Amino acid sequence: MLQHPLNASREAFVAHPVKRVGGSVTVPGDKSISHRALLLGAVAEGRTEISGFLRGEDCLATLSVLRALGVTVADEGTRLTVAGVGPDGLSAPVEPLDLGNSGTAMRLLMGLLAAQPFDSTLTGDASLRQRPMERVAEPLRAMGATITLDHGRAPLRIHGTRPLQPVDYTLSVASAQLKSAILLAGLWADGLTTVRSPGPSRDHTERMLQTMGILMTQDSASRVAMTGPATLTATSIEVPGDFSSAAFFIVAGLLGARDGLFIPAVGVNPSRTGLLTILRNMGGKIELRDQRHYGAEPVADIYVEQGELRGIEIGPELVALSIDELPVAFVAAAAAAGRTTVTGAGELRHKESDRLTVMAAGLAQLGVGVEEQPDGLTIEGGSISGGRVDSHGDHRVAMAFAIASLRAQAALEILDTIAVATSFPDFQAVATAIGLELEATNGDPRG
Ligand code: S3P
Repeated sequence: MLQHPLNASREAFVAHPVKRVGGSVTVPGDKSISHRALLLGAVAEGRTEISGFLRGEDCLATLSVLRALGVTVADEGTRLTVAGVGPDGLSAPVEPLDLGNSGTAMRLLMGLLAAQPFDSTLTGDASLRQRPMERVAEPLRAMGATITLDHGRAPLRIHGTRPLQPVDYTLSVASAQLKSAILLAGLWADGLTTVRSPGPSRDHTERMLQTMGILMTQDSASRVAMTGPATLTATSIEVPGDFSSAAFFIVAGLLGARDGLFIPAVGVNPSRTGLLTILRNMGGKIELRDQRHYGAEPVADIYVEQGELRGIEIGPELVALSIDELPVAFVAAAAAAGRTTVTGAGELRHKESDRLTVMAAGLAQLGVGVEEQPDGLTIEGGSISGGRVDSHGDHRVAMAFAIASLRAQAALEILDTIAVATSFPDFQAVATAIGLELEATNGDPRG
């Protein structure tokens, strides 16, 4: 059941049908890596220089919370310098820490704050206060912290303890946020902290911890361990372009780049690029050019060309590797010939919105045949009409529907798009520059 009221002040996009995109598009810095650079830099010894930082609301929330914890950060646009306070240097916040819309910020901070010798309260916006936090609190309690939730959700209160007890913890879902929270707490645990996962999830935390001097043992994609207590050494971090932001343009290119579309310097960490497998299985032509590294992170220039797509089966093994890209993969499926089925994707119900219900409702509004199952969708591709869809305040849903304008027969009105600024503040301008016709309005649904 969708309960999000239409709200006149939350902005909207009108996406006019277009047939063609092309040229080159630069995407902003990776959100996951920007959060981690700030958080790890804050408790490292020395100065961490970050370039390519994402100035989206989510990462800016992490920045302001770290300042409230006594960390000095020099801020020059996408270049930041974090004056690390070391493992003992954070100070008690005087007010509740507000993480806005950011689940990553809240969950990773829970791990960090579980080990601090003071109390903190974490809160966020209405969407974040609906998201499950017990799954993070449980292992951190097992490590010795006291964490009080409000019906399993934020606002939440953390009474930190030091040293923490190391744990050998098996996650019930392949979640990088959960894994990272435990590993960050493990920096202050006395002994070996082990996290086991049911499958791979993004490994930016492990890579960055290693770059900052921590010996990580990883005998498979699903088990990682480290010994605490450990001190991080500051470093320079060049943040690659965000694959999750590039994803919208990869699909746009497949739908309309007759002469190709070029997306330079995008992070292509294999724990993030399940969408490439999905789109290639659909018949999409995508090249990774000039593959290189920014520190420990693989980077490439992405080149994509228009082509016919066909429906496929997307199984659970691809879900964690494409978790944030599935909304735009559903749009690709709606534009493809034939049926696409997605299974094992129940985690989508716990994102910034319930992405299965919200995407199914939006696609149905656009005349696409779609059926919702508890853990997935069945999409009958081929034709997209125009009409009004509600993104329910979910940035990735809003941007995914904007891409549908490449196959729509009439204009799309996408409601409640203000949250696009959490991950991609310039989306409208960047999308327009490659040929999409995207207008921002005040979002009055009566208008
Ligand atoms: C993230 C992990 C994923 C992803 C989120 C960012 C991260 O969440 O959906 O947008 O930076 O660790 P889960 O770990 O809950 O799957």
